[in-house]
Amino acid sequence: MKAPEVPKTLKALVLCGGAGTRLRPITHTSAKQLVPVANKPVLFYGLEAIAAAGVTEAGIIVGDTAPEIRRAVGDGSRFGLRATYLRQNAPLGLAHAVQIARDFLGDDDFVMYLGDNFIVGGVTGVVDDFRRERPDARILLTRVADPTAFGVAELDATGRVVGLEEKPAVPKSDLALVGVYLFTPVVHEAVRAVVPSRRGELEITDALQWLLDQGRDVRATTISGYWKDTGNVTDMLEVNRTVLETLEPRIEGSVDPASEIIGRVRIDDGAKVFGSRVVGPAVVGAGTVIAGSYVGPFTSVAEDCRIEDSEIEYSIVLRGASVVGMRRIEVSLIGHHVEVTPSPRTHAVHRLVLGDHSKVQIP
Ligand code: DAU
Repeated sequence: MKAPEVPKTLKALVLCGGAGTRLRPITHTSAKQLVPVANKPVLFYGLEAIAAAGVTEAGIIVGDTAPEIRRAVGDGSRFGLRATYLRQNAPLGLAHAVQIARDFLGDDDFVMYLGDNFIVGGVTGVVDDFRRERPDARILLTRVADPTAFGVAELDATGRVVGLEEKPAVPKSDLALVGVYLFTPVVHEAVRAVVPSRRGELEITDALQWLLDQGRDVRATTISGYWKDTGNVTDMLEVNRTVLETLEPRIEGSVDPASEIIGRVRIDDGAKVFGSRVVGPAVVGAGTVIAGSYVGPFTSVAEDCRIEDSEIEYSIVLRGASVVGMRRIEVSLIGHHVEVTPSPRTHAVHRLVLGDHSKVQIP
């Protein structure tokens, strides 16, 4: 009698390296994998999605921002994962990250997940497909407006992957590589075969092309509902909106009788709402005080903020910021520990203290 087949172990390799030097308004102080979406770091959605797909062992590639990532993720148990940190001394490329994870990965299959990517709906479906079919590799693709900023795939008429190029000047399609890849151990040979690209990195895209050149089976799944942090505030507000629409409403903080909470709203433990209207979908983080204000739909207010005598809608307010006496703020991203107040009317001058690369519009 044939022995029952033991399911193959599938690990995760989560990439949180990178120099942390691409300064943008929201990443001055954080690793880009920790940029919050609806008050939760984008990386956490990835880790939750990996755990939901039945993975328990996660190798986490860390670089300069290792302390911040470790502080946020810990031993991984809150996600149902066992986290092993793998130090990458310089961001030498995604294929380099696979090289340094060689011992951790052993001869297991794995899902490689770029920590700054957000996949609406998770990865359980593609991980299940991969476990069932076990092609040499499976990639995820999505249509984008500007493929030159991504790895780009070329498919034939039957949907087979025939070519891959990293950030091509003249893209052969609008199908961008999404930061989730599934690999069998054959990839280790591929990442050893590639040479540094024009930008000086060992590209996973080149390793995938190498697999194709060897006649290996690289399959693609096209998805919609994808976001990555590019520092683009419009995109960030849009992904915030998408996530808030699925929020579990929950009031754990205190709301006084003079306040009104309408719709899908989460008020975290330790938040206080006085004499205010909060209209969902919206989230208010722990330790935040909302007083005499209106917080409108699609707004995420992080922890330890103060919104007083103000109106705010379709916006993101990061930790420790305060907005006092403002009517009205919309379509805005307000950084950590920012203070927003009206200027005294008597002066026809603006007094500004703005960080590097800030953008301000004053009527
Ligand atoms: O986001 C999808 C894109 O990711 C793909 O379309 C591209 O084909 C792929 O090369 C990659 O491009 P990026 O240039 O956007 O990758 P980035 O340098 O932003 O790094 C992605 C993640 O991996 C990020 O969380 C940092 C981490 N990383 C990056 C490098 C270069 C590492 O952990 N180690 C590294 O050496």
